[in-house]
Amino acid sequence: MLNIAVLVSGGGSNLQALIDAKTRGELPRGRLALVVSSKARAYALKRAEAAGIQTAVLRPADYPSSEHYAEALTALLTEAKTDLIVLAGFLVVLPKSFTQRFAGRIINVHPSLIPSFCGPGYYGLRVHQAALDYGVKLTGATVHYVTEVVDGGRIILQKGVEVHPDDTPETLQRRVMEEAEWVILPKAVALLCDKFTNTEGELP
Ligand code: GRF
Repeated sequence: MLNIAVLVSGGGSNLQALIDAKTRGELPRGRLALVVSSKARAYALKRAEAAGIQTAVLRPADYPSSEHYAEALTALLTEAKTDLIVLAGFLVVLPKSFTQRFAGRIINVHPSLIPSFCGPGYYGLRVHQAALDYGVKLTGATVHYVTEVVDGGRIILQKGVEVHPDDTPETLQRRVMEEAEWVILPKAVALLCDKFTNTEGELP
């Protein structure tokens, strides 16, 4: 069984999608072992507690640099024997030392079809506002590996979502979550658990 750590900063609806997938038996090779939040009041923490998952809060403001923050995070993840790290609405950019150390084992969900509307500054409603401003008729979500380039790692799964003429950033965000993010994130996690289990056995 692979230990999955989910890193969050906000509502945690993608975390909930993982919890629900696990409950439905769709993550047979993965265990949701730890949820780390960058904000003490993130609703995601409540979702984790309700599901009986161990939680921790690690606030960037409590550390002098992003390297120190990443060291503390690494210690938590190592203690929990983490095999796979899932960034699900995690708003902290992690340093290269961290992404290299866990290369191939960190993934992120982004609410657009990368390489559109991604990179520094594209988070939350800004992504959907940018898609509407551009006039795209199709947007969606992407699950990709995390590297030192923000939203730049190789793509694992994508799903398209239609933009409606009367969409606001809020309605589009909701549809992208429901139709794409909550579908492809659990699928990608299950795929990686299979991959690690089949080809490499239990990871250290
Ligand atoms: C999602 O749109 C995710 O793609 C983005 O941030 C949002 C987080 O939502 N990275 P939630 O906290 O999972 O509800």
